[in-house]
Amino acid sequence: MTWVALAGFMGTGKSRIGWELSRRLSLTFIDTDRVIERVSCMRVADIFEVYGEQVFRDYETEVVRRCLRLDEVVVSTGGGTVVRGENRALLASRGPVVVLEAGPDTIYKRTRRTKRPMLEIGDPRERITKLLGERTPLYHDIATIRVSTDGRNSSDVVEEIVQKLWEWAGREAI
Ligand code: S3P
Repeated sequence: MTWVALAGFMGTGKSRIGWELSRRLSLTFIDTDRVIERVSCMRVADIFEVYGEQVFRDYETEVVRRCLRLDEVVVSTGGGTVVRGENRALLASRGPVVVLEAGPDTIYKRTRRTKRPMLEIGDPRERITKLLGERTPLYHDIATIRVSTDGRNSSDVVEEIVQKLWEWAGREAI
């Protein structure tokens, strides 16, 4: 296994789990939001504020496309990467894609202290429920495997991911 992507809603643990998974598999960890911030010299929240969501999405697609050419990496994507069909097709073409899942209460607790532009419109709990409803079928669409992070410690989650990935790789090899 030399290339793995992580997808899932904000607050499902993609960055933390992605980093630990990269250690476990001896791969390099890449977080697409951090790449966008490095290249643009701006925080994600500022890109949203200054240029708007569509410009951020264009940067995101460009970074996803470039990540496909890499090897020996775990790529953690932003929660909204799946919204564009092009991104879903790109990620699915390289795969496997690990989708992390959590319930709306957990997501609210994990996101409330950090700046998340997509949750700043109206009541954050309602916004989470709405966006989660819209995006869940998209996460399911690209998931090679799905793993819940709700109320679990990261090492358990990483072990479940590794086990499921090995099972998947075994089936692919047949
Ligand atoms: C977004 C999720 C964020 C970041 C941006 C947009 C979204 O990433 O890419 O704020 O649309 O869900 P995280 O999932 O890492 O918070």
